Amino acid sequence: MKVLVTGGLGFIGSHTVVELQNKGFEVVIIDDLSNSSEEVLNGIVAITGKKPEFEKLDLKEKSKVEDFFKKHTDISGVIHFAASKAVGESVEKPLLYYENNISTLVYILKELSKKDKASFIFSSSCTVYGQADKMPITEDAPVKTAESPYGNTKQIGEEIISETCKVTPTLNAIALRYFNPMGAHPSAEIGELPIGVPQNLVPFITQTGIGMRKELSVFGGDYPTTDGTCIRDYIHVVDLAKAHVIALQRLLEEKNNANYEVFNLGTGTGSSVLEAIKSFEKVSGKKLNYKIVDRRPGDITAAYASTDKANNVLGWKAASTLDEAMKSAWDWEQKIRK
Ligand code: UD1
Repeated sequence: MKVLVTGGLGFIGSHTVVELQNKGFEVVIIDDLSNSSEEVLNGIVAITGKKPEFEKLDLKEKSKVEDFFKKHTDISGVIHFAASKAVGESVEKPLLYYENNISTLVYILKELSKKDKASFIFSSSCTVYGQADKMPITEDAPVKTAESPYGNTKQIGEEIISETCKVTPTLNAIALRYFNPMGAHPSAEIGELPIGVPQNLVPFITQTGIGMRKELSVFGGDYPTTDGTCIRDYIHVVDLAKAHVIALQRLLEEKNNANYEVFNLGTGTGSSVLEAIKSFEKVSGKKLNYKIVDRRPGDITAAYASTDKANNVLGWKAASTLDEAMKSAWDWEQKIRK
């Protein structure tokens, strides 16, 4: 079975390509290399022994998307990661985000709607819940007004898919709402490659640990949590990647209950920023230089997933602990800075 993975050279995309190939799927990657590198292909080959097909293509070019689907008529599923993901940048450049994240989604869905049968997995985010009223967060928690254009593209993206599925019985889709992905493949052949100064916690921790950054700023020590720092649900990227394969199989084997479904992907455990730092210190044996500073605007106090639906309906459960995920992130950081 041939699967298209858009953004397949990115962080979560590349780990998903590995898991797909491990399960015997034939993979075609589309990536515009705007936030990734062709060298990631070598890492995928090192792990799986198989080179996926790769086309450098900008999905904003509608005619190229049409040509791609004309050429690859045998694609049975699409996992769509390709998108811009920097929250701050999205506030500065909203139209860039709407064009990159929304028009590309529309072009792909248009092509899939022409097929007799199509399966589509969408990369969504727990950001759609904003600060949820109840923890853990279940899938039926209300979607709150987005804090940023980035967050809004995930909400609008989900709506576009759901509305398209309503009128397209041949299209089956699943939106996966990720909590906080982190870590790297245990082989340290692929991992996260943030460009410039990392905005996310874990790459900032590992870059500080290796000496690239002087100090980690912990954004806020006065939140109403056990230690005053924010709580998040950190999930190992390999667990996340495996969930994509399971979700795709669910659609291909027609086991889905409706032609549009939504699942949370998290561990179900909330960890504070200070707990993440402790985990790093434990697995690396290094003291981390950090200081508590003001809150970061737009941050929520706490978010962790109810995993019941993913466990019971999808049949998937995160296997890795925070320490295991942190160790893989640290191994990867050490490997790329050698
Ligand atoms: C962020 C985005 C979210 C997006 C997700 C994708 C914001 C406000 N939210 O989530 O929309 O879906 O990334 O990965 O940007 N922290 C520090 N110091 C740092 C960096 C982070 O203390 O240098 C803290 C943050 O305050 C937060 C936690 O670490 O409590 C996690 O932050 P981050 O990795 O940026 O993820 P989110 O903010 O949860």
